[in-house]
Amino acid sequence: MFLVGNSESILMRSENENKTLLAQEYKVLHEVSRALQSSLDIKEMLENVLWSITQFEELKVEQKAGIFLADTDKKVLKLYTTVGYFSEEFLEKEKEVPFGDCLCGRVAVSGQLLMSESCFADSRHERTFSDMTAHGHYIVPLKSQQDLIGVMFLYTNTNPSWYRHSQEVLISIGGLIANAIKRKQIDEELNRHRNHLEELVDSRTSELTQANTRLKIEIDHHKETQVDLISSREQLRKLSNQIQAVREEEKTRISREVHDRLGQALTALKMDTSHIEKKLPSEQADLKERLQSMTVTIDDTIKSVQQIAMELRPPVLDAFGLCEAIEWEAGECKKRYGINFDLNCLQDHVNLETNLKTAFFRIFQEILTNIVRHSKATNVRVSFNLIEDTLIFEVEDNGIGIKEENINSSNSIGLIGIQERAHSFKGKVEFDGFPGKGTKITVKIPI
Ligand SMILES: Nc1ncnc2c1ncn2[C@@H]1O[C@H](COP(=O)(O)OP(=O)(O)O)[C@@H](O)[C@H]1O
Ligand SMILES: [Mg+2]
Repeated sequence: MFLVGNSESILMRSENENKTLLAQEYKVLHEVSRALQSSLDIKEMLENVLWSITQFEELKVEQKAGIFLADTDKKVLKLYTTVGYFSEEFLEKEKEVPFGDCLCGRVAVSGQLLMSESCFADSRHERTFSDMTAHGHYIVPLKSQQDLIGVMFLYTNTNPSWYRHSQEVLISIGGLIANAIKRKQIDEELNRHRNHLEELVDSRTSELTQANTRLKIEIDHHKETQVDLISSREQLRKLSNQIQAVREEEKTRISREVHDRLGQALTALKMDTSHIEKKLPSEQADLKERLQSMTVTIDDTIKSVQQIAMELRPPVLDAFGLCEAIEWEAGECKKRYGINFDLNCLQDHVNLETNLKTAFFRIFQEILTNIVRHSKATNVRVSFNLIEDTLIFEVEDNGIGIKEENINSSNSIGLIGIQERAHSFKGKVEFDGFPGKGTKITVKIPI
């Protein structure tokens, strides 16, 4: 199946000549394989291989050779590299050779080694050039397994006396070159992917770093804002506590003034009226009657004054204690709204400081007001205990139950007030609503 040259010259060689030939063959193969294993890029590697082959004297190649790479999709050979002198015209014309054209195109189709003795005599040599001189050819397919990777062409003397082994040697070399090209192409493809991946990783890393920096700045900013917020909240709390304290003092003062001064004035008025009434002669009955009705009015006014004074600040809170004040408040509530109370107030007498006592009492008043206004409750259970240094105050009603949205709403000023009062004594408040069953409010303050 190989095209055989014009002589089987090896038969006519002497023993010595054959040995030299074999040695040369090994040398070329050795150099080719060394070039193929180098770490050079594909082009340099192939150029070295071509130079090594052209050194093989017995092939009678001129120092001109080249390699086409196959584009099997487009069915063309593309000139990849050459060694030795080729004219501009040649390089331009041979840039692309369709499969089937001229000698190289034929080899691309057949996949078989082709030898041509003279470019002028061989009709298959279809492409010519103005400076073409007579030459012969080895055209070697570069196949890796069944894949055509390319075609290698070597220029020879015209009518060379073909060295018989040359065909087998060249076919082997063609296979080696094809494998090496394929390997390098895969390596280069892998490298491209790796570089691309590295670029991606780099750019992603830098994006992430930037995002991280932005986040850090934002976090710092948030932290500052938070600190500002906390401090201004603290200031507001202090202010509100101060206002509460001032209001409480005012209430106490007004309550006393109203109770004492107005009370005394009214009592004096009452005594005077009854004195005048007694002194009046009995025939002045209409005036007597007027004075009696005045006394009744004065009595009512004294009661109102006492009521007002009590509501401003029940004296029982100062005179006795929190439990007594709670009892009094609950009694008033029962009188007015018919709500029943179950009171379990701390039996042991705990001496609470006035501010804390006032805070609990005001909290209780606010809770009661809410029960009356919102809960539709009929029963209220109140308990006040000291458990492990914590005062626990619970008020539970059997009404409609407070809703979650009311507990968390910033509009629930009354509830916020309860929490703030507890907070100023480092305490906590829990609101629990049970729909249709009632509301439980627990205030815990450490002492
Ligand atoms: N004991 C309760 N039972 C049912 N709902 C309640 C009770 N206490 C409070 N609420 C609900 O919580 C809301 C907020 O209460 P509060 O802050 O005191 O505001 P206000 O009494 O002025 O409406 C009330 O409007 C009411 O809907
Ligand atoms: Mg309220």
